[in-house]
Amino acid sequence: MDQDALISRLPASIASRVRSAKLADGVATLVLDVSGLDASKRGELEEAVRDILGQLDEIAEVRVAMTAEKVQRRIVAIGSGKGGVGKSTLTANLAVALHRMGRKVGVVDADIYGPSQPTLLDNQGERPQAEEQKLIPVQSPHGIPVLSMGHLVEPGKAIAWRGPMAGNALGQLIDAHWGEVDTLLVDLPPGTGDVQLSMLQKHKPAGAVIVSTPQDLALIDAQRAAQLFDAAGVPLIGLVENMAGYVCPNCGEISDPFGQGGVEAAAKAMDVPFMGRIPLNMAIREASDGGTPPATRDDDTSAPFRQIAEQLAAWLDA
Ligand SMILES: Nc1ncnc2c1ncn2[C@@H]1O[C@H](COP(=O)(O)OP(=O)(O)OP(=O)(O)O)[C@@H](O)[C@H]1O
Ligand SMILES: [Mg+2]
Repeated sequence: MDQDALISRLPASIASRVRSAKLADGVATLVLDVSGLDASKRGELEEAVRDILGQLDEIAEVRVAMTAEKVQRRIVAIGSGKGGVGKSTLTANLAVALHRMGRKVGVVDADIYGPSQPTLLDNQGERPQAEEQKLIPVQSPHGIPVLSMGHLVEPGKAIAWRGPMAGNALGQLIDAHWGEVDTLLVDLPPGTGDVQLSMLQKHKPAGAVIVSTPQDLALIDAQRAAQLFDAAGVPLIGLVENMAGYVCPNCGEISDPFGQGGVEAAAKAMDVPFMGRIPLNMAIREASDGGTPPATRDDDTSAPFRQIAEQLAAWLDA
């Protein structure tokens, strides 16, 4: 029996995973590609192969080896020029929305000076384990693996990193055991400092999303952040306007304390896609800071995050 004859005994779903097969002296040796399967599915696959081939008279023994293609992991950076414009909130909500769309997404909190993802994704106080000198991400109850400096230092303790140390700290969070994660959202600190430079030089993102509030000053800073990525050859996935219209918690009326539409106009001027507008809504702050990002729900508050997540997903698939 040759390789083809051996493979022809297996159902198509299994045969498509056979990378090599041979039979010699009653011993069948198969190499299976188990990319994308978890441990229990791999076990089932191996058992099925043994069952089916073991029944053949010519075969006395079945040997199965497994191989998996390395996951192609892409980094998407979430940045801004100015602080406090909502990068971390957007990152957490995009992660939740993408996860709910069935994507294998992880979050790195690169804001090593003021980490916020453990609070936003509700796994504060947990400590990552390490294996072979690499960190194992901490699961969020919302289904997302996360690594943050906030998991490594005591809450409330100030961290005074110098430039090179900051780069190393970031490296530990990114070069971790991310497993099946194929999209790593990186929540950047504000501005264009050491962490951003380290990101561009050592962990080049596949793309960047820039968040801004509509005020002119924030926009000027956002353009500066965009230029930093652009100059490093990192594609700009788009601009997001946050804290656009204020939703009155009493009457639902929308007013524009910071103006509106400024980010969309800036995106147009920069020839970068405009990804959407998130209103200033107290419910967003309460839900996010309370460890249950709005994107975990299906209501009006979560809709802008879902729409932006869909655009990000489309960009990733393009
Ligand atoms: N659309 C929104 N509506 C209401 N509150 C918001 C909104 N977006 C963010 N916030 C709140 O504003 C504060 C700052 O947001 P966030 O921490 O996400 O900003 P950041 O850009 O990550 O800040 P930093 O630059 O300090 O890292 C948080 O308390 C957050 O809950
Ligand atoms: Mg932040």
